[in-house]
Amino acid sequence: MSAAPVIAIDGPSGSGKGTIARRVADALGYHLLDSGALYRLTALAARRRGVELDDAAALADIARGLDVMFGSDADGEEQIWLDGEDVTAELRTEETGAGASRVAALQPVRKALLDLQRAFRKPPGLVADGRDMGTQVFADAGLKVFLTASAAERAERRYKQLKGKGIGVSLAALSREIEARDRRDAERTVAPLRPADDARMLDSSGLSIDEVTNIVLDWARE
Ligand code: C5P
Repeated sequence: MSAAPVIAIDGPSGSGKGTIARRVADALGYHLLDSGALYRLTALAARRRGVELDDAAALADIARGLDVMFGSDADGEEQIWLDGEDVTAELRTEETGAGASRVAALQPVRKALLDLQRAFRKPPGLVADGRDMGTQVFADAGLKVFLTASAAERAERRYKQLKGKGIGVSLAALSREIEARDRRDAERTVAPLRPADDARMLDSSGLSIDEVTNIVLDWARE
Protein backbone atom coordinates (compact mmCIF):
# COMPACT_ATOMS: atom_id res chain seq x y z
CA MET A 1 0.00 0.00 0.00
CA SER A 2 1.44 3.39 -0.92
CA ALA A 3 1.38 6.16 1.67
CA ALA A 4 -1.29 8.86 1.49
CA PRO A 5 -0.18 11.98 -0.46
CA VAL A 6 1.25 14.91 1.47
CA ILE A 7 1.39 18.61 0.63
CA ALA A 8 4.08 20.28 2.75
CA ILE A 9 3.81 24.01 3.36
CA ASP A 10 6.79 25.54 5.15
CA GLY A 11 7.91 29.09 5.78
CA PRO A 12 8.61 31.74 8.41
CA SER A 13 6.04 32.99 10.92
CA GLY A 14 3.29 35.16 9.51
CA SER A 15 3.81 33.99 5.94
CA GLY A 16 0.21 32.76 5.92
CA LYS A 17 1.04 29.03 6.06
CA GLY A 18 -1.69 28.19 8.55
CA THR A 19 -4.47 29.91 6.62
CA ILE A 20 -3.35 28.57 3.26
CA ALA A 21 -2.85 25.04 4.60
CA ARG A 22 -6.40 25.05 5.99
CA ARG A 23 -7.90 26.35 2.73
CA VAL A 24 -6.03 23.82 0.62
CA ALA A 25 -6.98 20.96 2.97
CA ASP A 26 -10.66 22.02 2.88
CA ALA A 27 -10.65 22.26 -0.92
CA LEU A 28 -9.12 18.80 -1.34
CA GLY A 29 -10.88 17.12 1.59
CA TYR A 30 -7.47 16.35 3.13
CA HIS A 31 -6.46 16.12 6.78
CA LEU A 32 -4.55 19.03 8.29
CA LEU A 33 -1.47 19.14 10.51
CA ASP A 34 -0.53 22.40 12.23
CA SER A 35 2.89 21.22 13.41
CA GLY A 36 3.72 24.56 15.05
CA ALA A 37 0.85 23.94 17.47
CA LEU A 38 2.68 20.86 18.78
CA TYR A 39 5.78 22.92 19.62
CA ARG A 40 3.57 25.61 21.14
CA LEU A 41 1.71 22.98 23.21
CA THR A 42 5.00 21.55 24.44
CA ALA A 43 6.14 25.01 25.57
CA LEU A 44 2.79 25.74 27.19
CA ALA A 45 2.63 22.41 29.03
CA ALA A 46 6.20 22.95 30.24
CA ARG A 47 5.40 26.39 31.60
CA ARG A 48 2.36 25.04 33.43
CA ARG A 49 4.34 22.21 34.96
CA GLY A 50 7.25 24.41 35.93
CA VAL A 51 9.69 22.73 33.53
CA GLU A 52 12.55 24.95 32.31
CA LEU A 53 12.66 25.54 28.55
CA ASP A 54 16.20 24.16 28.29
CA ASP A 55 15.57 20.85 30.08
CA ALA A 56 15.68 18.72 26.92
CA ALA A 57 14.90 15.37 28.54
CA ALA A 58 11.90 16.63 30.52
CA LEU A 59 10.61 18.56 27.49
CA ALA A 60 10.89 15.49 25.28
CA ASP A 61 8.84 13.56 27.84
CA ILE A 62 6.18 16.25 27.72
CA ALA A 63 6.19 16.24 23.91
CA ARG A 64 5.87 12.45 23.77
CA GLY A 65 2.96 12.44 26.21
CA LEU A 66 0.97 15.41 24.86
CA ASP A 67 -2.75 14.92 25.41
CA VAL A 68 -3.98 17.09 22.57
CA MET A 69 -7.19 17.39 20.62
CA PHE A 70 -7.71 19.49 17.48
CA GLY A 71 -11.13 20.73 16.45
CA SER A 72 -13.02 23.80 15.36
CA ASP A 73 -15.63 26.06 16.90
CA ALA A 74 -19.05 26.99 15.47
CA ASP A 75 -17.43 29.52 13.07
CA GLY A 76 -14.99 26.94 11.77
CA GLU A 77 -12.09 28.58 13.66
CA GLU A 78 -9.35 26.26 14.87
CA GLN A 79 -9.65 25.12 18.49
CA ILE A 80 -7.04 23.19 20.43
CA TRP A 81 -7.36 21.38 23.76
CA LEU A 82 -4.52 20.40 26.07
CA ASP A 83 -5.35 17.92 28.83
CA GLY A 84 -9.03 18.51 28.09
CA GLU A 85 -8.79 22.31 28.44
CA ASP A 86 -9.34 24.77 25.58
CA VAL A 87 -5.96 26.53 25.23
CA THR A 88 -6.50 28.10 21.78
CA ALA A 89 -6.05 31.74 22.86
CA GLU A 90 -3.04 31.09 25.08
CA LEU A 91 -1.42 29.03 22.33
CA ARG A 92 -1.48 31.92 19.86
CA THR A 93 0.29 34.53 22.00
CA GLU A 94 3.75 35.59 20.87
CA GLU A 95 5.04 34.56 24.30
CA THR A 96 4.03 30.96 23.60
CA GLY A 97 5.49 31.31 20.08
CA ALA A 98 8.83 32.37 21.52
CA GLY A 99 8.74 29.43 23.96
CA ALA A 100 7.91 27.11 21.08
CA SER A 101 10.89 28.33 19.12
CA ARG A 102 13.16 27.61 22.11
CA VAL A 103 11.92 24.05 22.69
CA ALA A 104 11.94 23.46 18.91
CA ALA A 105 15.71 23.97 18.84
CA LEU A 106 16.18 20.83 20.99
CA GLN A 107 16.74 17.62 19.04
CA PRO A 108 15.11 15.30 21.65
CA VAL A 109 11.91 17.36 21.44
CA ARG A 110 11.87 17.22 17.62
CA LYS A 111 12.45 13.48 17.73
CA ALA A 112 9.68 12.99 20.28
CA LEU A 113 7.21 14.79 18.00
CA LEU A 114 8.13 12.89 14.81
CA ASP A 115 5.80 9.90 15.19
CA LEU A 116 2.97 12.08 16.41
CA GLN A 117 3.27 14.23 13.26
CA ARG A 118 3.59 11.29 10.88
CA ALA A 119 0.44 9.72 12.36
CA PHE A 120 -1.56 12.53 10.75
CA ARG A 121 -0.78 11.07 7.32
CA LYS A 122 -3.98 9.23 6.42
CA PRO A 123 -6.07 8.79 3.26
CA PRO A 124 -7.17 10.66 1.28
CA GLY A 125 -4.17 12.90 2.06
CA LEU A 126 -2.58 15.46 4.35
CA VAL A 127 -1.67 19.13 4.20
CA ALA A 128 1.06 19.81 6.77
CA ASP A 129 2.36 23.25 7.69
CA GLY A 130 5.48 24.13 9.65
CA ARG A 131 9.19 24.72 9.24
CA ASP A 132 10.55 21.26 8.37
CA MET A 133 7.61 19.42 6.78
CA GLY A 134 9.35 19.23 3.40
CA THR A 135 12.90 18.78 4.69
CA GLN A 136 12.45 16.28 7.56
CA VAL A 137 9.04 15.06 8.60
CA PHE A 138 7.58 14.40 5.13
CA ALA A 139 10.71 14.49 2.98
CA ASP A 140 8.83 12.36 0.40
CA ALA A 141 5.91 14.82 0.07
CA GLY A 142 4.54 15.03 -3.47
CA LEU A 143 4.30 18.82 -3.31
CA LYS A 144 6.48 21.10 -1.19
CA VAL A 145 5.73 24.79 -0.98
CA PHE A 146 7.95 27.35 0.73
CA LEU A 147 5.74 30.29 1.52
CA THR A 148 7.27 33.69 2.26
CA ALA A 149 6.18 37.33 2.51
CA SER A 150 8.01 40.55 3.28
CA ALA A 151 8.91 41.04 6.96
CA ALA A 152 6.65 44.11 7.21
CA GLU A 153 3.69 42.27 5.76
CA ARG A 154 4.21 39.26 8.03
CA ALA A 155 4.28 41.44 11.16
CA GLU A 156 1.19 43.30 9.96
CA ARG A 157 -0.73 40.06 9.35
CA ARG A 158 0.22 38.61 12.69
CA TYR A 159 -0.81 41.87 14.35
CA LYS A 160 -4.27 41.77 12.76
CA GLN A 161 -4.64 38.06 13.54
CA LEU A 162 -3.85 38.56 17.24
CA LYS A 163 -5.96 41.70 17.50
CA GLY A 164 -8.88 39.85 15.92
CA LYS A 165 -8.54 37.27 18.67
CA GLY A 166 -8.66 40.00 21.31
CA ILE A 167 -4.96 39.62 22.16
CA GLY A 168 -3.41 43.06 22.77
CA VAL A 169 0.03 43.70 21.20
CA SER A 170 2.07 46.56 19.77
CA LEU A 171 3.09 46.28 16.12
CA ALA A 172 6.66 47.42 16.80
CA ALA A 173 7.17 44.92 19.61
CA LEU A 174 5.61 42.18 17.52
CA SER A 175 7.94 42.92 14.58
CA ARG A 176 10.97 42.64 16.85
CA GLU A 177 9.73 39.38 18.39
CA ILE A 178 8.95 37.82 15.02
CA GLU A 179 12.38 38.79 13.69
CA ALA A 180 14.09 37.27 16.72
CA ARG A 181 12.05 34.07 16.38
CA ASP A 182 12.76 33.77 12.64
CA ARG A 183 16.46 34.27 13.26
CA ARG A 184 16.48 31.53 15.91
CA ASP A 185 14.51 29.17 13.64
CA ALA A 186 16.82 29.80 10.67
CA GLU A 187 20.11 29.67 12.58
CA ARG A 188 19.52 26.62 14.79
CA THR A 189 21.58 23.54 14.05
CA VAL A 190 18.73 20.99 14.09
CA ALA A 191 16.14 21.19 11.32
CA PRO A 192 16.74 24.89 10.55
CA LEU A 193 14.10 26.75 8.59
CA ARG A 194 15.07 26.46 4.94
CA PRO A 195 13.33 25.43 1.73
CA ALA A 196 13.72 21.80 0.65
CA ASP A 197 15.82 21.48 -2.54
CA ASP A 198 12.68 20.46 -4.44
CA ALA A 199 10.34 23.04 -2.86
CA ARG A 200 8.41 25.53 -4.97
CA MET A 201 8.90 29.08 -3.73
CA LEU A 202 5.84 31.27 -3.30
CA ASP A 203 6.05 34.92 -2.19
CA SER A 204 2.60 35.89 -0.95
CA SER A 205 3.35 39.63 -0.53
CA GLY A 206 0.53 41.60 -2.10
CA LEU A 207 -1.48 38.47 -2.95
CA SER A 208 -4.89 37.66 -1.48
CA ILE A 209 -5.62 34.46 0.45
CA ASP A 210 -7.68 33.20 -2.49
CA GLU A 211 -4.88 33.90 -4.98
CA VAL A 212 -2.28 32.05 -2.91
CA THR A 213 -4.66 29.14 -2.26
CA ASN A 214 -5.38 28.80 -5.98
CA ILE A 215 -1.71 28.76 -6.90
CA VAL A 216 -1.09 25.92 -4.44
CA LEU A 217 -4.18 24.04 -5.66
CA ASP A 218 -2.99 24.38 -9.27
CA TRP A 219 0.37 22.93 -8.29
CA ALA A 220 -1.35 20.12 -6.36
CA ARG A 221 -3.39 19.18 -9.41
CA GLU A 222 -0.38 19.09 -11.75
O1 C5P B 1 4.12 28.05 13.07
P1 C5P B 1 4.15 28.54 14.49
O2 C5P B 1 4.38 30.02 14.61
O3 C5P B 1 2.97 28.09 15.27
O4 C5P B 1 5.43 27.81 15.14
C1 C5P B 1 5.91 28.13 16.42
C2 C5P B 1 7.39 27.74 16.52
O5 C5P B 1 7.50 26.32 16.48
C3 C5P B 1 8.27 28.23 15.38
O6 C5P B 1 8.81 29.51 15.62
C4 C5P B 1 9.35 27.17 15.29
O7 C5P B 1 10.40 27.44 16.17
C5 C5P B 1 8.67 25.91 15.79
N1 C5P B 1 8.32 24.99 14.71
C6 C5P B 1 9.31 24.14 14.25
N2 C5P B 1 9.01 23.20 13.31
C7 C5P B 1 7.78 23.10 12.80
C8 C5P B 1 6.76 24.00 13.23
C9 C5P B 1 7.07 24.94 14.19
O8 C5P B 1 10.44 24.21 14.69
N3 C5P B 1 7.53 22.17 11.91
